[in-house]
Amino acid sequence: MADEPLVLGIETSCDETGVGIVRGHTLLADAIASSVDEHARFGGVVPEVASRAHLEAMVPTIERALREARVSASDLDGIAVTAGPGLAGALLVGVSAAKAYAYALGKPLYGVNHLASHICVDQLEHGALPEPTMALLVSGGHSSLLLAPDITADVRPLGSTIDDAAGEAFDKVARVLNLGFPGGPVIDRYAREGDPAAIAFPRGLTGPRDAPYDFSFSGLKTAVARWIEAKRNAGEEVPVRDVSASFQEAVTDVLTRKAIRACKDEGVGHLMIGGGVAANSRLRSMAEERCADAGITLRVPRPKLCTDNGAMVAALGAEMVARRRAASDWDLPADSSLPVTEPHVPGNGASVGGRHEHSHDHAHDRSHDHVHELSRKNLYS
Ligand code: KG4
Ligand code: ZN
Repeated sequence: MADEPLVLGIETSCDETGVGIVRGHTLLADAIASSVDEHARFGGVVPEVASRAHLEAMVPTIERALREARVSASDLDGIAVTAGPGLAGALLVGVSAAKAYAYALGKPLYGVNHLASHICVDQLEHGALPEPTMALLVSGGHSSLLLAPDITADVRPLGSTIDDAAGEAFDKVARVLNLGFPGGPVIDRYAREGDPAAIAFPRGLTGPRDAPYDFSFSGLKTAVARWIEAKRNAGEEVPVRDVSASFQEAVTDVLTRKAIRACKDEGVGHLMIGGGVAANSRLRSMAEERCADAGITLRVPRPKLCTDNGAMVAALGAEMVARRRAASDWDLPADSSLPVTEPHVPGNGASVGGRHEHSHDHAHDRSHDHVHELSRKNLYS
């Protein structure tokens, strides 16, 4: 449909410079430049290195996306950008670029939430999200169960990790096994040849008195590290494939169990899984089996759309435009701890561009001040 919003999205919250272009729910371009190789030898993302890499990759990646989509920048209906959460310096590069392009082109700017984008991206794969949507969001920095009655305006956290994120656990276990960084994809590969029942690793927070929707992966990570250490101390070879499979089974068992319980408790008939860990093959197959048994419809985007990318930001931006949400102001801050309850950072009406309404909602005004405060802290402390 020609009147569906054409939006370019920029993602720089971590180590991927992503630029995506969508028209409504249709993906036109998904250009990515990753600095992951530069971080590998440090065993984790180095913020300064990531920021510098974003700066170098930004303009070429935007140009590549426009070429791929065969659209002209002047045809865009808006520019969306990840305003947070993420690494402060890395976010700042994306936010600055988005402002520069939006200002120069005279287009509205939409600062959006990285976590809501991980959910909204599924519209590019499976069409409009049901409302409400139950989402299991599992990435390197977050593990949460979210109930989203409206992905552009109303996202409610039911529970989250009390220590490590699921992806972080994959990365840490991979480190102990000397498998390099990031750990998720490598463990996924080794696990395919291992026995998931070889070692009984603990399932955190699954007791009858535990918070039903919270997660804990720190105990599991320690249990795996101890098990490996004991093997090494005994001079025995570590069965990498069995450890990978058994660890992965413990993570995916807890994630799917809690997600399905949340669907049942809330009376929601479908489950969306997003974030980098949603690329995990065992999580996908286990969720498929268990959702089928429970009569729940499962929605998981293809792996490339699960890990960080610009298309997800464009997808949420397009939804903002379609629903006539307020655009952001030119002083939109990069907010490293933007709460999941704020899918986007609306301005107070001072921005340019056509297709947006002005927000005089007091709650929005308050949260906006709060965002300013946080960003000042991040930038100057
Ligand atoms: O969403 P994402 O790309 O970045 C963040 O927002 O954090 O997620 C990255 C995380 C990393 O911890 C990585 O190890 C994990 O997703 N990951 C996986 C797989 N692919 C990426 N974890 C398990 N299995 C995978 N196949
Ligand atoms: Zn992410």
